[in-house]
Amino acid sequence: MTVVVLLAAGRGVRMRSERPKVLHEAAGRPLLDRALDTALAVAGSAAQVVVVVSNDGDAVASHVKAAYPGVRVARQNPPRGTGDAVRVAALAFGKAKSVVVLSGDVPLLAAETVKGLLAALAKDKKAAVAVLTARLQDPTGYGRIVRDKKRAFVRIKEEKDASEKERAIGEINTGTYAFDRAFLEKTLSLLTSKNSQNELYLTDVLSLARKAGRRVVFVEGDAASALGVNSRADLAVVERILRDRKASEAMRAGTTILRPETVTLDETVVLEADTVLEPFVTLLGKTRIGTGTVIGQGTVVKDSVFGKNVTVRPYCVIESAVVGDGAVVGPFARLREGTDLAEGVHVGNFVETKKAVLKKGVKANHLTYLGDTEIGERTNVGAGVITCNYDGFAKHRTTIGKDVFVGSDSQLVAPITIGDGAIIAAGTTVTEDVPRDALALAREPQKNLPEGGAKYRERKKQR
Ligand code: UD1
Ligand code: MG
Repeated sequence: MTVVVLLAAGRGVRMRSERPKVLHEAAGRPLLDRALDTALAVAGSAAQVVVVVSNDGDAVASHVKAAYPGVRVARQNPPRGTGDAVRVAALAFGKAKSVVVLSGDVPLLAAETVKGLLAALAKDKKAAVAVLTARLQDPTGYGRIVRDKKRAFVRIKEEKDASEKERAIGEINTGTYAFDRAFLEKTLSLLTSKNSQNELYLTDVLSLARKAGRRVVFVEGDAASALGVNSRADLAVVERILRDRKASEAMRAGTTILRPETVTLDETVVLEADTVLEPFVTLLGKTRIGTGTVIGQGTVVKDSVFGKNVTVRPYCVIESAVVGDGAVVGPFARLREGTDLAEGVHVGNFVETKKAVLKKGVKANHLTYLGDTEIGERTNVGAGVITCNYDGFAKHRTTIGKDVFVGSDSQLVAPITIGDGAIIAAGTTVTEDVPRDALALAREPQKNLPEGGAKYRERKKQR
């Protein structure tokens, strides 16, 4: 049996943030969740995972309790280094054969890589620990693997304690380990804080293993699984890697992405084959895009479901909406929560919809607000139409039948119902229900004064 300890009590000083480091997000998810997914996949059950949090890490503890029920939480008060953190978790070791230690700030580590460490530990009877290392072009900030002239392991030196020569070493400690539980337990009590940070370093367990005649096994991983987030710049690197991975995966599955480096896709987004994403598209949350759909440049979509062959022209903002097959949206449209567009609906430029159900074939192409409304099949909504859904106190509904023609620049003062086939004359303020097939007209009759225009111009010139 294996217990997995996830270290998350560090102060994360280098982030310069009120928020605990491990709750900062990369590609829409907290760093901690990514590490916890790995921990759970390795441990096999939540009860075998222990997250170490600090006393002021209450936000972290409550996040773990809510998002990962069953995972154990140990408190480190105050945080006195990674060695001290593992000590705090030791109560949960029981009779486990091995203990895996992961860091909450290493989000790209795959469970398979950790399982490889456990296998390497199990294979070597003399091994006390297997550690995941990496070779980096720029090893700044990481603990370096210091070896003697015969390339035998001596110790891990932290950046802050390292000499200039040691800092040139490119082989680094990723902070991921598989320990023989019994050895770890007895060695933790031997750690001292004789270093520049006055902390108990978990890394010292490795040099103590060597001194005790036990073996330290090195497993070299790739640079990504080493990435530890200590600063906002590190966070941006992780973000980029995750976004690239998702974009590549989408392209492999049949999505054309015109400029992948500009596109932002959450991992939770589902794209069917033969979809097209133009540059600077952002798709977030539980968004699903059907086959044949094209999403125009600069469009942002969150938690929305698109059918087949939808055309979204550039620069739309769409949230919590449903868009039916063959619909055409934008450019510059805003679909808000509760928008439900049926097959073939057209919603054009500068149209805003909210809690609006537009049935098959409805067209609202220009400069319109449709809120708290239901509109029947084939109805045409002219330019500048407004559903006046709010009276200053409460929201009211507008119900429009099918095959209605709503003339441009009309206002529909809710609550109001327009019957099937009705025609609303342009510029009408509708305050009474309109029966089916009626023509509603509410505006001042027009007067034309003969030569009035010419006379007006003449008067102006004389002044
Ligand atoms: C650590 C390693 C370093 C390695 C690097 C990899 C030590 C001494 N150094 O350095 O060799 O190259 O990770 O990313 O282990 N934490 C606690 N309690 C504490 C201190 C830290 O829980 O008292 C947690 C942090 O929240 C973090 C993890 O342990 O998740 C690592 O701590 P951090 O301060 O980031 O260590 P590094 O300086 O990165
Ligand atoms: Mg770190």
